[in-house]
Amino acid sequence: MTHILSEGSEIEIGPLSDTSLPKVLASYGGNKIIIVVDENTHDLCLEYLITSFPALEKSEIILLPNGEENKVMEVCMQVWNAFSEYGFSRKDLVLNLGGGMVTDMGGFIASVFKRGMDFIHIPTSLLAMVDAAIGGKNGIDLGPHKNQLGTIVKAKNVFIDLAFLQTLPAKEFYNGYAEMLKYGLVYDAALFDELSKFKTEDDFNRLDIIEKCVQIKVAISDRDLFEKGERKLLNFGHTFGHAIEGYRLQTDPISHGHAVGIGMCAESYVSMKRGLLSKDEFHKLQALLVQTYPFLTFSEDCIREIISLMYNDKKNEAGKIFSVLLEAIGKGVYHNELSEKEILEALQHVSLLAESLN
Ligand SMILES: NC(=O)c1ccc[n+]([C@@H]2O[C@H](COP(=O)([O-])OP(=O)(O)OC[C@H]3O[C@@H](n4cnc5c(N)ncnc54)[C@H](O)[C@@H]3O)[C@@H](O)[C@H]2O)c1
Repeated sequence: MTHILSEGSEIEIGPLSDTSLPKVLASYGGNKIIIVVDENTHDLCLEYLITSFPALEKSEIILLPNGEENKVMEVCMQVWNAFSEYGFSRKDLVLNLGGGMVTDMGGFIASVFKRGMDFIHIPTSLLAMVDAAIGGKNGIDLGPHKNQLGTIVKAKNVFIDLAFLQTLPAKEFYNGYAEMLKYGLVYDAALFDELSKFKTEDDFNRLDIIEKCVQIKVAISDRDLFEKGERKLLNFGHTFGHAIEGYRLQTDPISHGHAVGIGMCAESYVSMKRGLLSKDEFHKLQALLVQTYPFLTFSEDCIREIISLMYNDKKNEAGKIFSVLLEAIGKGVYHNELSEKEILEALQHVSLLAESLN
């Protein structure tokens, strides 16, 4: 069992049955435990949790519909109404069992209800284990705009058990992989080298690598919880990625990791064009990204739409678009204002790349 202490949050990595969860649950005495799941984690993960802790059999279950398109206010309203009808109090405990959609939305629901209830995350997707469940960002989308409503409140505890990965569909590993690559690219070249050797889904089930990613997320988010500086690094790939994901959200959704994979290529392209990232490193990174993520072609209309979504990005200041760029593999730099020309050229580049691969 690995214990990672984060300010105001305790993270344990290991089999659930060996964790301090029973002690944590006992500390809530006679208060209610509410388990938030989506349809998949209800069917595939809940039984393992309850078998590990039979006391949880008496918990209330809140079932969310699957998918990013449901990470919205309408669903939150239904859940808050249910919380109210069941008479939940702020002393009750919410336990979020799921991927990043469940941890983001469950954390938001709990952190707002009656001005905030305690919540725990039990991440079940690789992405949630290495990223979404750590660092206190909770939130939902507003139309095509990602994570526009939210709070920064940490889960009291995060329990990471790799056994949940056994039922995770193969394609979902690549979503977590995008965020793992991000850590390597902006912060840790040795981690990137290790990750670039991954060949099959089995490679993702690496406790040492998952622990490393969690440590990086904890270190950075503890030093800069409210993203005044260094934490911005963790948005690498997301300025383009969120806009691409948002653009597709209401028509033909693509996964977060897929969009971030393309976004990392676009942001590395800008880095290379500015003479920050060497051509060799750019081509090495681009080769890895195109063999991992299906690149998409964008029409001119679509590019215009993506750029207009970028103008609504949370990271913008004074109407200007900022992104993280790379000076080298393993060294990100934040707070770079992008010109519309650079954005356009980067989107044209990734689109042409997709065309050349088809
Ligand atoms: N808060 C943060 O710091 C942060 C960081 C990165 C990403 N995110 C957010 O995380 C979300 C993406 O997370 P995700 O990729 O985990 O998406 P997700 O939660 O939608 O999970 C992906 C799919 O896998 C299923 N699933 C999850 N665990 C499973 C398991 N063990 N077995 C079988 N199926 C399982 C889910 O039901 C879903 O269908 C996005 O909304 C993104 O914005 C948040």
